[in-house]
Amino acid sequence: TTEQYAEQYRPQVHFTPDSMWMNDPNGMVYYEGEYHLFYQHYPDSTIWGPMHWGHAVSTDLVHWEHMPVALYPDSLGWIFSGSAVADVANTSGLGTSENPPLVAIYTYHNPELERAGSDTFQYQGIAYSIDKGRSWTKYANNPVLSNPGIRDFRDPKVIWHEENNRWIMILAAQDRVQLYSSPDLLEWEYESDFGQNIGAHGGVWECPDLFPMETGDTVKWVMLVSINPGGPNGGSATQYFVGDFDGHQFIPIGDKTKWIDYGKDNYAGVTWSNVPDEDGRRLFIGWMNNWQYANEIPTSGWRGACTVARELELVDVYNEYLLISKPVAEFDQLKMKEQLIPATTISGLHDLKKLFRFPVEINLNFDTKDATSFNFAESFGVVLSNSKGEKLVIGYDNLNKLFYVDRSQSGWQSPNNEFAGIHYAPYINNDPSMDMKLIIDHSSVELFAKGGLVVMTECFFPTEDFTMVSLFSEGGDVKLTQGSVWQLAGIW
Ligand code: FRU
Repeated sequence: TTEQYAEQYRPQVHFTPDSMWMNDPNGMVYYEGEYHLFYQHYPDSTIWGPMHWGHAVSTDLVHWEHMPVALYPDSLGWIFSGSAVADVANTSGLGTSENPPLVAIYTYHNPELERAGSDTFQYQGIAYSIDKGRSWTKYANNPVLSNPGIRDFRDPKVIWHEENNRWIMILAAQDRVQLYSSPDLLEWEYESDFGQNIGAHGGVWECPDLFPMETGDTVKWVMLVSINPGGPNGGSATQYFVGDFDGHQFIPIGDKTKWIDYGKDNYAGVTWSNVPDEDGRRLFIGWMNNWQYANEIPTSGWRGACTVARELELVDVYNEYLLISKPVAEFDQLKMKEQLIPATTISGLHDLKKLFRFPVEINLNFDTKDATSFNFAESFGVVLSNSKGEKLVIGYDNLNKLFYVDRSQSGWQSPNNEFAGIHYAPYINNDPSMDMKLIIDHSSVELFAKGGLVVMTECFFPTEDFTMVSLFSEGGDVKLTQGSVWQLAGIW
């Protein structure tokens, strides 16, 4: 209900923990009609601390039911990020063939070893459930993969590699990822390294993922790698590589650094495992935050949120493989009432003349055929504002061919000033279309532009809710060919 989470800034169409701290989404797995979402959680505080796995389930990727904490720290350490699989053939022997186990593969972070100056304080353990994820038992012979002498050795994502009949684990190893394989999730064998000489390296690599995707009539493998700091707009962000994978080694195609999201607030996202073939979707969710200010954002009672669940697609754009992100189709069930914005020429500020109550979804199409003509706008887009004069601008800079989110006057700013500023995303050249989908919640905006080829996710914390929405152009005009604002129902 709306009373349930009525605190200032509480997201209404995004997953948040009932209370206290969350960071990375973990262990996403679909099993017997339920989407599981675990997450880095500290149930005793709204700041990061000894990590647990919080847990929620959903049947539609939109509405979530909170479940009890799934994994608590133990004598081997805190429970850092990782993944979960449905071991349907019971390769691990941790269930039975009639009732196969769900197996969570996660990092143990041992604070005592770290304090003692050791470099081997992160290693991988597993836990299993034979009751659809309701209760979890730690494996008796943990860890299953000990630390080879790498300080940052974490965030295992495990997939089943059909062709070779083996499990593959990809995990972050400081400035690269490492791949291991196993027949049973218990014994792991080293396969290869990837990434030391490619991609962004402004910070440590974290939370990788590896999965096949069909595009046209070929299959390519996509590797996601989060990096902190070193993102395109500072701090945390997630890059990706497209290439081939034979079950042993990943070979990239091209060496351009690509980002799944150019906004400052989409980190550590990975994809759901065990989504049925009939569904065939690649489903993603990220943590809507950035380590530059994650512990300071001004929420009270809870801290941290997820992006909306997204479907990823791989497209071939002029011989370059690129990811597209879209909100999952199930999100549309939240659309309650549509207000059309009649087609018009925007020249300066075009106020929608109504007070809005977020969450809303705004869809806009602009005509950019004449984008090089003399009186075409230098920039255009959407402004959210309140009576205090605070505003958030989501726009397109036609001179520099960049999308941007300007939250420099949006209210709360972080003490280190990393929250403020204008953040940019490239246009990504394919066709001259200019469509923008904005999902706007109480403290976040997700921009899906050009059919999801350009994505920017950003949080904001105005001192008073934004209620005014205007379209704008600067330095010329732009034609809005189609527009609408959907009032969205809350998910709780
Ligand atoms: C990413 C991360 C992971 C780690 C977890 C700890 O945000 O740093 O690498 O497992 O958070 O909470």
